[in-house]
Amino acid sequence: MKVIQVDHYKQMSEKASDMLFESIKGEKNLVLGLATGGTPVKTYEILTTRINSEKVDMSTVQTINLDEYIGLDAKHLNSYHQYMEDHFFKHVPISPDQTHLPNGVANDLDAECKRYEELIDTIGGVDIQLLGIGSNGHIGFNEPGTPFHETTHVVELAKSTREANARFFSSDEEVPTHAITMGIATIMKSKQVVLLASGKSKADALKQLIEGEVTESCPATVLQNHPNLMIIADHEALSKLSKSTLEQIEANNYISST
Ligand code: F6R
Repeated sequence: MKVIQVDHYKQMSEKASDMLFESIKGEKNLVLGLATGGTPVKTYEILTTRINSEKVDMSTVQTINLDEYIGLDAKHLNSYHQYMEDHFFKHVPISPDQTHLPNGVANDLDAECKRYEELIDTIGGVDIQLLGIGSNGHIGFNEPGTPFHETTHVVELAKSTREANARFFSSDEEVPTHAITMGIATIMKSKQVVLLASGKSKADALKQLIEGEVTESCPATVLQNHPNLMIIADHEALSKLSKSTLEQIEANNYISST
């Protein structure tokens, strides 16, 4: 595990976008796993500017998102399809057939999960998976208690997740109760994972992820077992780590798996 400590949200976003930019520019047939939510908004903004100012060719890139709400169609203001359009896709040279999200209004949701999992394999697996983290330790929408062996599946969102995401909706009741998410096993198949975290509300989850025991009650802890994990987090998000872990991070930006 590599942990890069930055001062604040903007610096986290710059580091993440640098990393993604170099991969988009340098790797043919790159499969980028993408996340939504508040955390990567600025990363997409900076990345968009760089792609356009350097006229980067994205014709061989494929993107695959972590999750989508059930019941919201692609055009719904709060769907993750729409989020990706607004924050990234419509600003960069990428066509709809290169971008993939689960269909939250599929008639047969189990078949949709299967299709999505197979799609990931068909396009060659995810090269870099971008992740945020829930304050309850969720990754994707894998809520506490999700078995680590799960692949893409339907989940019921935790109350705390619905409350956290209510800020994007005009009323609490509008927040969907269910979503389709890549499973933990799907995420763990990615060749590299880059997890972003900013702010105090992520400090407990990040402490668990970096220092805690690996347990299904904090899904993000599974990432300790990933061979290529990079965490980019600001001081506030890392503020609950022990002194010795922080010293190790400050000394070399790196701590080995626990
Ligand atoms: C988003 C996702 C979620 C978020 C997490 C953090 O696609 O899968 O796991 O990354 O809920 O959300 P924010 O960034 O809004 O704090």
